[in-house]
Amino acid sequence: MTKHVPLTINGVEVRAPEGTTILTAAQDAGIYIPTLCHCPDVSSQGVCRLCLVKIEKRRRLEPSCRTLVEEGMVVVTDDAEIEQLRQVILELILSDHDFNCLLCPKSGNCRLQELVTHIDYNERRFNRFEHVAKELPIDTSNPFFNFNPNKCIHCTICVRTCNEISGTHAIDMAHRGYDLKVSTFANKPLKESVCVSCGECVERCPVGALTPKKVEHPTREVKTTCTHCGVGCGLYLGIRGGAIIRARGDRENPVNQGNLCVRGRYGHEFVDCHERLSFPLVRAYDEYAQASSIVDEVTEKGKPVTAPLVKREGKFVEITWDQAIKYVASTLSHYKGDQFSAISSAKCTNEENYLFQKFVRVVMGTNNIDHCARL
Ligand code: SF4
Ligand code: SF4
Ligand code: SF4
Ligand code: FES
Repeated sequence: MTKHVPLTINGVEVRAPEGTTILTAAQDAGIYIPTLCHCPDVSSQGVCRLCLVKIEKRRRLEPSCRTLVEEGMVVVTDDAEIEQLRQVILELILSDHDFNCLLCPKSGNCRLQELVTHIDYNERRFNRFEHVAKELPIDTSNPFFNFNPNKCIHCTICVRTCNEISGTHAIDMAHRGYDLKVSTFANKPLKESVCVSCGECVERCPVGALTPKKVEHPTREVKTTCTHCGVGCGLYLGIRGGAIIRARGDRENPVNQGNLCVRGRYGHEFVDCHERLSFPLVRAYDEYAQASSIVDEVTEKGKPVTAPLVKREGKFVEITWDQAIKYVASTLSHYKGDQFSAISSAKCTNEENYLFQKFVRVVMGTNNIDHCARL
């Protein structure tokens, strides 16, 4: 059983599980501590120093996101000295930030914007430190998201996310001082890096530095399961005007715990694609009389496509589902054993794939079966 440690935060006695940070203990007790570089999904680095707190009998202020609770600790999260320190930190961050919320895609959902409303600051005090080369190029090479270094606050959440959640190690912090920046290897555009476009860093960037290309906000969400592969990640599809415009991982889902790959996060345009096949296509071979007789049953041509189609003399004609299944069955009857092989789909459920391999082994009499997820 987890031991709980008694401590005092702002005069309030709280008990926190051993091994938790002061920040978590304070948040659990409903006490607000400003943060910028803290993300509960990844390890803490204590980069921004906004969460500094006073601890009795310690000479210096400690970052609450990296300091563990101890029995009998007396913590102060807010007083005039701490407030002044936070003001200076915020002003320094803003002096090197393209602070134009009106045109920023993150506006309304930005941690820095939120902090500005909590911490009293004097915007211009450090304007003499403002970055001379303010207009850094925006990396738009990734097909799904942009990276705007002018909005980056160097919190390193994206780097930790890429390392610890995605496991890709596509980005890191490069250079020092004012030249510090998030960079790929050899400063290549994201598209030319090893980035797998999972978008996990975009999800966690607290400001408008990493933002999806699609900036529309959904009006409602539908909880569902990703159809792209057999893992079955839980996700929420964001809908606007009847179309899917965004996807986010379901944190409550035990399979993916909120994480998604590039297909689950960005691969939903096929649903509304006008070229999408919503019926099977069967190619008729004249040498099989039985198959041809099915084609002969074809009804009138030129109607909208609502049923299975058979290709004959270079054209598709409409047939019923029963005819299509009969046609496939009659064609398969010409093969047996190792003349036949099959590849199953990761989009099928486990049950469908089980039935398919059973069909191939028992009915077709061969072990020539594989699965696209293995290729
Ligand atoms: S990143 Fe946040 S604070 Fe900066 S301009 Fe965008 S909305 Fe404003
Ligand atoms: S999209 Fe994924 S792989 Fe690419 S940088 Fe972000 S976390 Fe790393
Ligand atoms: S891109 Fe976003 S997450 Fe990454 S360091 Fe900059 S502000 Fe932080
Ligand atoms: S949130 Fe603790 S140092 Fe940034």
